[in-house]
Formats: sequence, structure tokens, C-alpha cells
Amino acid sequence: MSTPLLHKAYDSALFKNEGEQLVSLLADYLHTTTTGGSDKVLRWTEPEDEYTFWQQYLSTSHSTSDFFKEVLERSIHTHHPNYIGHQVAPTVPVSALATLLSAQLNNGMAVYEMGAAATAIERLVINTFCKAIGYTNGDGFLTSGGTLANLTGLLAARRAKATDDVWNEGHSKKLAIMVSEEAHYCVDRAARIMGLGSDGIIKVPAGDNYQIQTDALESYYTSAIKNGFEVIAIVGSAPSTSTGVYDDLEKVYAFAKAKKIWFHIDAAHGGAAIFSKKYKHLLNGAHKADSIIIDGHKMMGTSAITTAVIFKNSTDSYATFEQKAQYLWEKNDDADWFNMAKRTFECTKSMMSVRFYAIINAYGLQFFDDFVTTLYDAAQQFSDLIAAQPDFEIALEPVSNIVCFRYKPSNQEDVNEVNKRIRRVLLEDGEFYIVATTLRGEYYLRTTFMNPFTTQKHTERLITIIRKVAAIHR
Ligand SMILES: Cc1ncc(COP(=O)(O)O)c(C=O)c1O
Repeated sequence: MSTPLLHKAYDSALFKNEGEQLVSLLADYLHTTTTGGSDKVLRWTEPEDEYTFWQQYLSTSHSTSDFFKEVLERSIHTHHPNYIGHQVAPTVPVSALATLLSAQLNNGMAVYEMGAAATAIERLVINTFCKAIGYTNGDGFLTSGGTLANLTGLLAARRAKATDDVWNEGHSKKLAIMVSEEAHYCVDRAARIMGLGSDGIIKVPAGDNYQIQTDALESYYTSAIKNGFEVIAIVGSAPSTSTGVYDDLEKVYAFAKAKKIWFHIDAAHGGAAIFSKKYKHLLNGAHKADSIIIDGHKMMGTSAITTAVIFKNSTDSYATFEQKAQYLWEKNDDADWFNMAKRTFECTKSMMSVRFYAIINAYGLQFFDDFVTTLYDAAQQFSDLIAAQPDFEIALEPVSNIVCFRYKPSNQEDVNEVNKRIRRVLLEDGEFYIVATTLRGEYYLRTTFMNPFTTQKHTERLITIIRKVAAIHR
């Protein structure tokens, strides 16, 4: 029997009231952050202090609206123009609204009737990707993030290329995949989950330009075969995370074709460039890959976590997981596009498709072109600015919206230590959010231009602050 408390929890008037307050709070927040009106990107707290705060918070009573305000205050502001750190998009408001809609509807998506609209919309979204990439017989689905999407692509590779029927019988042979040493760590993780072990992940060195060294592929492959491995796939990065450099996809494809292995592209970050007239050339050759993944929550402005896994051959999108689930579907061998759990890692998954569709519906595909092109251009502009400063250096010319650079001290201080200190002080100060990376043993500051409202005025201020930190905190 339902209780008064349950009635209160589901009360529509309360929902309306609290919902309107939340939208109003977020609208004010959006205005203040995008115009740079709030002074800080984040207010740094030590993890234990933050935990204690939330523990104590529950000991006194607060309205839902006060709770939401507090969460907002104590979170990093991805919409702030000084947020130039990790690769998470400032959500396009219409996509956030779509997420609210789907959060309340909570359609589980495993089978058609548990999400009719979102399932049909998902097919449309995937077809839009296929068309943009140039897949004429492609298909795919949305899944929960780039990490899971890469695992799914590599499982499909194993299904298609391993001589053993690993899914049913396990593997008797040592399997391996080839990948650049610069690839995102989740590719390595996926391979380990698949039981390939560290020797089954063949890390090919990157060249001076940080692209996978394609002239080294043959020797790494030959040595793997000599050591008894069956190489099933090669992964191209588009781009790799630290530097934002795209691998030469045409060359990687040529190698995959010659060896008859699967070609997977991790385009979690830069796949969206396929919609940019100016930058789509970076993905030349992508249409030849057997599978490719693209994150919506990185360069397409959707809320997290929203990733497309797309296959060149429609049938491959059905082959990965072959599972009987009597309570969901009767027959397993039907290629019914509308029963999503037959193809996705997840059983219940969120209605991610509405996040993409809301953007396309409101602004068309042109939005993605504007978004990517603006951000890649902004990185180039910042790089030019850095190059013009005698006391700074860039690690490499940016190819996408990621710029690695560092301050060069004029005194005897160790350049790595100075830049580590700069990063730490900036984080704790909170006016800017930038991150760092290590390239060939050298520490660099790293910025990713995620916010279309970050201008040269902001980056000039960043340079000024870095100089001050370098001078003051000696
Ligand atoms: C190239 C690349 N692949 C995969 C991932 C992981 O994606 P996700 O965070 O959506 O799991 C990232 C994350 O930064 C990435 O940069």
C-alpha cells in the first residue's frame, strides 16, 4: 500500500515547483558562466573535506533547491570560458533538457517497447553518422561512453577475425591487437578485459609528429607472429588524447587490409570533425574502418555519457554479443534493429539518442560544424599566441583543439618542476582550469578548447597568471 511519503515523493505540483526553480537556477548559472561573470571555474577542496561537508550536510535539513545550489557551487563549471582542461563539453542547453526528459521517462531501451521513440531516433542518429562518415552499408548503436564503445568494437573484431570461436569456446591461441603507444588507456584496458594480457597489446611507437609510426607496423606485426600471437586488429586514434594528433588513417587502413585484420578507430574525441567542412580531412580514410566510435559528450555538445559505435558492415553490429535472454526476446538470430540489448553491452541503457536529436532538431547538423571548427580554430590561435611569447614554448603544432605547452623559466629552476607547480597552483586557485601531460618524459601544461566562448582575452589572462605564479611561488 502506498504511503503518504510515497505520495509526496511523486507529487506533480512539487515536481513542477522544484523543476522550475532548477531551470531558473541553471539559466542564471548559464548566463553568468558563459559570460565569465563568475570569478572561478572551480573552488578547490581537499577530497576528505568535501566528503565531510556532505556527511554533515545531511545532519541538518535543506530544501531540494538549496541542495541543488550547493551542488552547483561545489562543482567544476564546464561552461566557464576559463574551463580549458579535460575533454568534456559544456552541454548545449537543449541537450541537457533532453537528458532531463529522458531521466524522468527512464525508458530502459533493452527492447523496443521499453523505448519506442528513443529506439527509432537512435537509428536515425546512427544513420546520420553513417552518411557523414561515408558508410554505405553501416549500422551501429549508442552506448555508455568511449571506454565501453572501444571494448565493444574490439569484441566485434575478435568475433570477426579470431580463428577460435572465443565467445562460445574461449581461446586456445594468444590473441593480440596493435595500437599506438599514444592511444587512450582504455584501449589497453579493453584488451586486458578481453584476456589478451599485457603482451597481447602491441604498442607501436609514435613518430616525431606523435602519429603512430606506420613504417614500424610491419616489424611489430612480424615479431608478434613469430612469438605465436594471432593479431586480430589495429586501432587508429582520431586523435590521441595527450596531443590531439590524428593517426594517418589511410596508412593504418592499408596495413590492416594487407594483413586482413580488423581496423578500429577510436574517434571518441575527434570523430565529430566529420561534420566540419574545414577539418573533416583529418578523418580521411575513416570510411574504410571496420568500426569507429564517437563521443557526443566531448566534441558534439551532448550531456554525458553518450557514445556512438558504428560499423562499416551492418551485420557486424549484430554479431558481437550473442546471448539468449528468454525474458526479453524469443529468438536470438533475428537481426531486429529495434531490440537494442541484442547489440549493446548494456541491458538497461539511457535514452541517449534524444540528446543528439534535440540538437539536430533545434540547430541542424551545422551546429556540429560550428562547434568543432570554432574550437579547433581557437586552439590554433592560442598556439600562435604561445609561440609569440619568448618565455613559453609549445610541444607541437596543434592539429585539433588540444594544445600542449609550457613555461620556460629564465633561472636555474627545473622546467618540469616549475610547470608542475604552475598546474597545482592554478588548480587550487580556480580562476582557470587547465591540465597537464607528460610527453617523452617531459612535463607539459595541456589545454583543451571545449568552450566556444573562450577568446584570446581569456588566454592572454592565462599567460599573465602563469607568469605571476612562476615568479611568486619560487
Ligand atoms: C581518445 C579517447 N578515447 C576514449 C576515451 C574514453 O572515453 P569516455 O570517457 O567516454 O569513456 C577518451 C577520453 O578522454 C579519449 O580521449
